[in-house]
Amino acid sequence: MEDRTVTMTEIVLPNDTNPLGILLGGRLLYWMDIAAAICAQNHAGMVAVTVSIDSVSFDCPIRLGDVTYIIARLTRVFRTSLEIYVEVFKKETGAHTRQKTNEAYFTFVALGGDGRPTAIEPILPKNREEQMLFDAALGRRDTRKNKNKKDEPS
Ligand SMILES: CC(C)(COP(=O)(O)OP(=O)(O)OC[C@H]1O[C@@H](n2cnc3c(N)ncnc32)[C@H](O)[C@@H]1OP(=O)(O)O)[C@@H](O)C(=O)NCCC(=O)NCCS
Repeated sequence: MEDRTVTMTEIVLPNDTNPLGILLGGRLLYWMDIAAAICAQNHAGMVAVTVSIDSVSFDCPIRLGDVTYIIARLTRVFRTSLEIYVEVFKKETGAHTRQKTNEAYFTFVALGGDGRPTAIEPILPKNREEQMLFDAALGRRDTRKNKNKKDEPS
């Protein structure tokens, strides 16, 4: 699992928040993207770029001083692309437990030295949870492809 999971920890500082002291959505997405990129590149062994982010909702505010844990997990490798599942948890000051606040699926494409998409080594799931994420990744990929087709100008 070591190379397939990345955990990033951030504390929410004043510069990360809006005037109400709530973490900016864009800052959270930035942290999620960084964690996912490190996870993708750990496995690919080369630069990987974000090509899509599935919908992410902001249902639970993360506030100034909260600690956030951003956990990125490689779910499946296709040919040149990889899917990364990112979960976000927050821990309020003095709290003993973490609360899940967000999740999203990121797709990255590995680029070789020539800047072109490059095939990467596939992975096999190692436990039941990984197997479930791995199996469901195919359906999510189809959904993305269909959405991209619909979004094409006619
Ligand atoms: C990533 C990039 C090089 C892919 O180029 P491309 O011409 O679409 O390449 P291909 O058609 O060969 O597709 C390569 C892979 O990307 C996948 N892909 C392409 N567009 C995708 C999308 N919108 N969502 C999910 N996967 C996508 C393809 O399915 C393929 O995966 P596979 O090899 O595992 O089957 C190109 O889209 C690019 O440079 N995008 C900008 C990336 C970037 O700047 N990211 C930072 C965001 S600001």
